[in-house]
Amino acid sequence: MKQRSSPRWSLCKATASLELVASTVFLAVLFNFIQGAKAQSYPNYSPVRYQLLHTYEGPSFFDQFNYYSDDDPTKGFVTYVNKNTAHALNLTSTTSTTATLRVDASTPSPSGGRNSVRVESNNTYDSGLFIFDIVHTPYGCGTWPALWLTDGANWPKNGEIDVLESHNHGSHGNEMSLHTTPGCSMGGERRQVGSAVESNCDVGVGGNAGCAVMGYRSTYGVGFNAGGGGVYSLEIRDAGIRIWNFPRSSIPADIHNGSPDPSTWNTPLADFPSTNCDIASHFRNLNIVANIDLCGEFAAMSSHYTQMYSCPGSCSDFVANNPSNFADAYWEFGGIRVYRAS
Ligand SMILES: *[C@@H]1O[C@H](CO)[C@@H](O)[C@H](O)[C@H]1NC(C)=O
Ligand SMILES: *[C@@H]1O[C@H](CO)[C@@H](O)[C@H](O)[C@H]1NC(C)=O
Repeated sequence: MKQRSSPRWSLCKATASLELVASTVFLAVLFNFIQGAKAQSYPNYSPVRYQLLHTYEGPSFFDQFNYYSDDDPTKGFVTYVNKNTAHALNLTSTTSTTATLRVDASTPSPSGGRNSVRVESNNTYDSGLFIFDIVHTPYGCGTWPALWLTDGANWPKNGEIDVLESHNHGSHGNEMSLHTTPGCSMGGERRQVGSAVESNCDVGVGGNAGCAVMGYRSTYGVGFNAGGGGVYSLEIRDAGIRIWNFPRSSIPADIHNGSPDPSTWNTPLADFPSTNCDIASHFRNLNIVANIDLCGEFAAMSSHYTQMYSCPGSCSDFVANNPSNFADAYWEFGGIRVYRAS
């Protein structure tokens, strides 16, 4: 058993400890302040020189894409067809300047799911600048289209970036989002035109809502398509992930002439800075994916399908029985160009 100290000694010690505590507290506060300032400082998006790496366009657009034909992991009323079937049904097609992916808009009452496509680039990317020239975005009751990047075999470890995502009539604007493992969130300063929805990108939080940013209405659907679509640009780098949207009439000249320089562009639509997210460790080995899901966990939600868009009856009944509903359910791309930092 330890001896109790004498009162006097105790007092001395107490004063000394108080000083020690005070200086420790002061140092701790100072340390946290510096760490906090460091953790919350906006990243340096210094100019990067980009050089062309891959081009997907015209008649060869689909050559470097694989057709995903397994069951839809998100339980949609959809049958993703393989390459031969997609060709035979004309669900993917090209011209000299465009590539189209569409939903089967003729089969009367398919059972088990309506035919659609989901293509995934064979090339994988850790970073870079992606220029998506989009002529038409798909929409219509029951649709859940997306243009995104992910590593399907290593999800969510290697991350998911949703560049375009919408549902049903799609006139509420484009929803851009990141989905990750724990330890990636958005907060502090962001320089973006869109509106932040959720801050935690962890798929385990908020029912995998992701850390989404909503674009204004004409960033998707009828409003976007009206002027012949435009360009979406995605930049993935250690400093952060940014997405820009340019209507056809205001595509920067440096995109047209093949030397894109994001440092000269306007404020992005979405900004996912690295402030509270180590981009390089959360995003890698990503395929470019374009698909049109039907119903599924997102489009069929009653808050979306019924309340937001007043789509009729049950999603799968409607999708099965109304082929003509899918006339506008198509992606049309002018091409995709991928640049890497030189
Ligand atoms: C195939 O689809 C494309 C794009 O939707 C369309 O322009 C073309 O006419 C179709 N071809 C046939 C043979 O139906
Ligand atoms: C797909 O990528 C792999 C690995 O990079 C490569 O070996 C293969 O040739 C590619 N296939 C096509 C069709 O481009």
